[in-house]
Amino acid sequence: MTSDVLIIGGGVIGLAIAVELKLRGTNVTVLCRDFQAAATHAAAGMLAPDAEIIQDEMMGKLCRRSRALYPEWTSKLEDLTGINPGYWACGILAPVYQPPKSAATGDSPAYWLDKTAIHQYQPGLSNDVVGGWWYPEDAQVDNRALAQALRTAAQSLGIEIKDNITVAGLIQQQGQVIGVQTNQGVMRAGHYVLAAGAWSNELLPLPVTPRKGQMLSIRLPDFVPELPLRRVLFGENIYIVPRRDRSIILGATSEDVGFAPNNTPAGIQSLLQQAIRLYPQLQDYSIQEFWWGFRPATPDELPILGTSHCANLTLATGHYRNGILLAPATAALIADLICEQKSDSLLAHFHYSRFHTQPSTAPMLTHSANFTNGDRPALSSLPNSPLPDSPLVIAGKTFQSRLMTGTGKYRSIAEMQQSIVASGCEIVTVAVRRVQTKTPGHEGLAEALDWSKIWMLPNTAGCQTAEEAIRVARLGREMAKLLGQEDNNFVKLEVIPDAKYLLPDPIGTLQAAEQLVKEGFAVLPYINADPMLAKRLEEVGCATVMPLASPIGSGQGLKTTANIQIIIENAKVPVVVDAGIGSPSEASQAMELGADALLINSAIALAQNPPAMAYAMNLATVAGRLAYLAGRMPIKSYASASSPVTGTIN
Ligand code: GLY
Repeated sequence: MTSDVLIIGGGVIGLAIAVELKLRGTNVTVLCRDFQAAATHAAAGMLAPDAEIIQDEMMGKLCRRSRALYPEWTSKLEDLTGINPGYWACGILAPVYQPPKSAATGDSPAYWLDKTAIHQYQPGLSNDVVGGWWYPEDAQVDNRALAQALRTAAQSLGIEIKDNITVAGLIQQQGQVIGVQTNQGVMRAGHYVLAAGAWSNELLPLPVTPRKGQMLSIRLPDFVPELPLRRVLFGENIYIVPRRDRSIILGATSEDVGFAPNNTPAGIQSLLQQAIRLYPQLQDYSIQEFWWGFRPATPDELPILGTSHCANLTLATGHYRNGILLAPATAALIADLICEQKSDSLLAHFHYSRFHTQPSTAPMLTHSANFTNGDRPALSSLPNSPLPDSPLVIAGKTFQSRLMTGTGKYRSIAEMQQSIVASGCEIVTVAVRRVQTKTPGHEGLAEALDWSKIWMLPNTAGCQTAEEAIRVARLGREMAKLLGQEDNNFVKLEVIPDAKYLLPDPIGTLQAAEQLVKEGFAVLPYINADPMLAKRLEEVGCATVMPLASPIGSGQGLKTTANIQIIIENAKVPVVVDAGIGSPSEASQAMELGADALLINSAIALAQNPPAMAYAMNLATVAGRLAYLAGRMPIKSYASASSPVTGTIN
């Protein structure tokens, strides 16, 4: 039996959604790679929208809504399982060493305690503490007990939890996910939820990166009869969370170190130092355990919730510091969305598309003749732009420029840099092999371009077989990651067995594309202008098709117009005309046909003045696009006078 919904990720978010969906009558399967690795286990379980001082208004709302759901949600889980998730409305005290500059803001009550009051209220605090905020509505849950309760609840409700399943890729076809490729074969469902936390961008180009947190716990010694701490202490770079079972959790570092595992002496030292400073009596208790985990961080530190670029794929990831807190609200929002197509107004705020640059209206060029100053000639929208246009979207990522360029064949690195700037392009393709082997002209490529502004399109140039191309594509993904593009899963697939004509092998290309899509790549295959092949590639889930205009580097211009036209007519993915364009008029012509974008390298690199030619190609791409949107006049057999005779005065 295939499930109605397949959830990728068995942490607190995936499980909470699973339980909520099941309670609403949906059949659910959860795929879990490693339960212990989930950020869920690394948490301290603070439910702290107030103490965390969340600046974003909508996020504050969502967090408080979720905190309010906690008492009922955890008691429901306890009823289902007999496991007490340790919800404790203990409040959070945030002592400070310096008097605060501003009053507390936010919707929930926060009380300022002066020095006398705070020391009376919480004995044992450091003498350095000059006062603090009391947040009575913040609380805590025992995150490990919660995880256990959720798993047990899921199992008792008949949710299938498949452990040790690694998802290698989402198989996409025409805007739908049609399966997930796993280490145990393809698994299918009607609907999919991505809740893979810090690992989400292995499957989709989402800007989710790991943010490591180290933690430890200490134990109240037997000679201390009762827990002297009855509330969470939230200090500077430290929180101290007392549990009812007499353990005390100390957390957490926040480190941008990728998936570097293990506790480090520096990490633990900083936690101990801050903890002992805040609450000195801890120094004599015994240490119980050390651990670490990876929070799923996004650039704005807000989660990614809601619909995706595929109709049957919902996103619930990127919860960063607030995954435990946000679990019940996330589950309710996502279940409403999946079961009832009910989209809460909050969801728009957390939609993945917020990371795309704002779509402009018709891009227009402002003139700039100087390409050496490092300023990209502005492709900016005029205030009274003649025609609205939507941006180029490839595999869910948005681009304003419709011209892609390359790095090959330039006479110097400086000329290449100036040309790329002048072209206004946002995507530059790079031959992984040539970079790896430091082919002349490819040394220092990584440093030569500003990869925070340019999206890298690794290509598999030089690969003669599907197997080689697959291997090089994987290297390309690593290369993009090393250059800071963690979420880049793009690959320009080239399988070219012959050296003279450099024509792509259609069968090898299709085979490699199929595999790479399964591995989660956004595949942009370079092909002969063959409409049937284009269709097949689209069906296996390629992100674009890239038909050639004429052989690579030949500068022969558009020789395959009729076929490219058929491809454009039928494609549901962007059509990028690649190879053979020799002059701006040809670039324009391809855009006028309705191509979504162009890739031009040799015509720029081999021009007498590459930066100037790059700028001309930039103009031509924009002109061709605008002409396509404007719609050209029909061609007539005979002349037709510009000034009509009707209505003229005799
Ligand atoms: N929620 C606290 C942390 O992520 O460290």
